[in-house]
Amino acid sequence: MKRQWWKEAVVYQVYPRSFNDSNGDGIGDLQGIIEKADYLQELGVDVIWLSPVYKSPNDDNGYDISDYQQIMDEFGTMDDWDELLDALHDRGIKLIMDLVVNHTSDEHPWFVESRQSKDNPYRDYYIWRDPKPDGSEPNNWVSFFSGSAWEYDDRTNQYFLHLFTKRQPDLNWENTEVRNDVYKMMTWWLDRGVDGFRMDVINNISKSPGLPDASVKDPDSDYQFAAEHFANGPRLMEFLGEMKERVLKHYDIMTVGETAFLPIDSARKMTDENDGFLNMVFQFEHMAVDAQPGTHAGKWETRQWELPELKRIMTKWDKEMEGGGWNSLYFNNHDQPRQVSRFGDDKQYHKPSAKLLATYLHTMRGTPYIYQGEELGMTNVRFPSIEDYRDVEIHNMYKEYTKERGFSHEEVMKKIWTTGRDNARTPVQWDDSENGGFTTGTPWIKVNPNYREINAKQQMSDPDSIFNYYKRLIELRKQEDVIVYGSYELYMADHEELYVYTRSVNGEKLLVILNFFAGEPAFQLPEDIVFNHKTLLISNYEVKDSENISSFTLRPYEARVYKLN
Ligand code: NOJ
Repeated sequence: MKRQWWKEAVVYQVYPRSFNDSNGDGIGDLQGIIEKADYLQELGVDVIWLSPVYKSPNDDNGYDISDYQQIMDEFGTMDDWDELLDALHDRGIKLIMDLVVNHTSDEHPWFVESRQSKDNPYRDYYIWRDPKPDGSEPNNWVSFFSGSAWEYDDRTNQYFLHLFTKRQPDLNWENTEVRNDVYKMMTWWLDRGVDGFRMDVINNISKSPGLPDASVKDPDSDYQFAAEHFANGPRLMEFLGEMKERVLKHYDIMTVGETAFLPIDSARKMTDENDGFLNMVFQFEHMAVDAQPGTHAGKWETRQWELPELKRIMTKWDKEMEGGGWNSLYFNNHDQPRQVSRFGDDKQYHKPSAKLLATYLHTMRGTPYIYQGEELGMTNVRFPSIEDYRDVEIHNMYKEYTKERGFSHEEVMKKIWTTGRDNARTPVQWDDSENGGFTTGTPWIKVNPNYREINAKQQMSDPDSIFNYYKRLIELRKQEDVIVYGSYELYMADHEELYVYTRSVNGEKLLVILNFFAGEPAFQLPEDIVFNHKTLLISNYEVKDSENISSFTLRPYEARVYKLN
């Protein structure tokens, strides 16, 4: 396996709107990130993934871009951006930008032109189709954010495709001009000094020819989830290959694709270190362990997740990437509920369970991602009113579920509390002053009321805090090659509470023992794990050096990592 800096790195995602506000307008900004550069250095992360900061009307918080080469007014200026890049580089931290090129904003000049007339030069930059003879949409695809994926435009009497909101028209990647313009824009950023890209929904850029109807998964709805036609289309690999040739291969950068519904063999091919196109992808299979299978709407119908299933999925992804592919490791980002509330316990066992989940993500094979506030164990939030929420997905879903699907307000709020994206988007809790120190103004979304107990200031000064535990995990990755490069072997695959594995490379071995729940299961050392000496590298409870580990009882959410010789 080749050594690569992006395999050894820990990535930290900044969602700028909610990170830190420097000017009191209630919205995080670039100067706010610069103010926290020392914090990021102290934590020890190597790479910042910055969610979109480009010009945008903010229908989807910056994932609707109206100018790829300008900074959003609320976030600052291009000078601020240059200053941020320098501030990070001065501290040895790299910066990767979000690349959102499946779609633009409807305010992007390309779309503004495109919708003017059928014969203008930008018409074919987007996906326009005639209505069906009865005037209805060209096909039955549902948008990710409720309703049809098509919007009618009476200027030219055609529909345009939008997989996300109707203000996020999909670009037509079949058009060479579109691809050329995207590559030009990427080159422009790389020449400005960015260290790579996180590629938004990148496996959606090639759609099935003819855009056929999707099969019916939800008989109660007119519109159907169409991943079989918009994800992993026939020209996806060709487009990525072209992007690599034209742009990526000329720079020493890191690339990660966001790829829901990507088959595992395609992920392997896509990330092959010789012939692939991207360094790694975000797979989504493990994000569905607590969702009802079926449609994307399954996200709102949750189920109790089971540890053996998580092990099965993660082990499969590890094995499949072996020998030249690479994984990314995450439970959190700006689209997912908070991991400690979802997979841990955000009450009685808040601290041990947050550390347990961290131990897991930082000792599997792959590049770990930390989402802002995760290093503090930030939790989900329960705002009582729908008006307290900001996310377009939440608002559209609320309308659909209360108006069309017959759910009560209370029922829908429960779904939002469990799964809604705004759980991840409440401001970072810096200290126990008003608004958690995020802003001196009125925050664009309310702060989680638990900021008085959970905040960075308190945790930085507490040696036993979640923050300091993350710091130690990140340090360990720098010290122990085996954490980065060791092969992974799972033990006790069917155990419902314990997740046990080893990592081995060049005669070094790690033994990771994780109790994922609040019970106190017994651990028996598997017979084929033999050693002379053991060193405890990290754990979330006090453990005696002399303790014999051939059999012992774990405490709730206990995590231990041993190095064996
Ligand atoms: C995935 C992004 O992570 C999400 O936040 C966004 O809404 C969609 N892509 C559309 O860009």
